Amino acid sequence: MANLIICSVLVTGSSCGIGLELLKTFVNKRNPPEHVFAACRNPEIIQELKSLTSKHSNLVIVKMDVTDKASIEDAYSAVKETLKGHGLNLQINNAGIAIFHSANETTAEDMMRVYETNTVGPMLVTQTFAPLLKKAAQENPKEVMSCSKAAVIHTSSSLGSLESTTHLYPDALIEYRCSKTGLNMLTRCQAEAYKTDGIIAVAFEPGWVQTDMGGAKAPLKLHESVGGGGGGIMKVFDTLTEKHNGMFLDYKGLTLPW
Ligand SMILES: NC(=O)c1ccc[n+]([C@@H]2O[C@H](COP(=O)([O-])OP(=O)(O)OC[C@H]3O[C@@H](n4cnc5c(N)ncnc54)[C@H](OP(=O)(O)O)[C@@H]3O)[C@@H](O)[C@H]2O)c1
Repeated sequence: MANLIICSVLVTGSSCGIGLELLKTFVNKRNPPEHVFAACRNPEIIQELKSLTSKHSNLVIVKMDVTDKASIEDAYSAVKETLKGHGLNLQINNAGIAIFHSANETTAEDMMRVYETNTVGPMLVTQTFAPLLKKAAQENPKEVMSCSKAAVIHTSSSLGSLESTTHLYPDALIEYRCSKTGLNMLTRCQAEAYKTDGIIAVAFEPGWVQTDMGGAKAPLKLHESVGGGGGGIMKVFDTLTEKHNGMFLDYKGLTLPW
């Protein structure tokens, strides 16, 4: 299954960090997708994205704020137009935010803000793009379920695991933890909702990675998590099938406790 051919992919939150690294890895693949959609909320200011598009004609930037339904719908129209009647194979809900509050410090506003981005955002994006994902699945009815057929991948976190709450920062990142637990449940529900359409839904944890969110002390460099060299998240994408539908996996492909 190495080097699965994925015709089209959309990555949210692609201005920096894991999202940007995913884009770079997709466009530099030996068999790159025909269309790589970089969804981000302020594309005009991201120089690195602009310079990537000048080198890769298959990279298309679409403006999208995952908390804004109208902006998601505009992005959908732009993607649909570019795909010219074809479906979207892979949608990666990567955009996310974190606040470092304890259970006693957090506020209703902070809780709602993080939930809106990390849980409601992926729900809205998936609902909006579902027609294109279904179309992609219909284009290859005989193909087994996979990321090259039709898949929704949610970037979750082990910090959202109910069973391993104590391993890191037990009383911090409360808003983030709750939002990712909700995202995990969304994944399970979508896995049921979309399986008859031929779409798989998977939650994955990229590891603790050196990004703006992960910080400089994180043990993993971006390429070690995303796996430009043939490992990491990209390798996991290559191996996903029907049996992974609704699962919570890490960047090595190992199953995580809910
Ligand atoms: N780094 C880690 O150790 C780690 C571990 C587990 C899970 N994760 C998850 O991995 C994903 C990526 O994290 P990262 O470490 O790469 O973080 P990052 O460097 O902070 O990047 C976050 C991305 O999300 C975007 N974003 C935030 N709110 C958005 C919105 N409303 N609409 C659209 N885009 C929005 C940001 O865009 P702007 O540039 O516009 O702000 C940015 O592109 C997140 O879901 C995170 O929870 C990360």
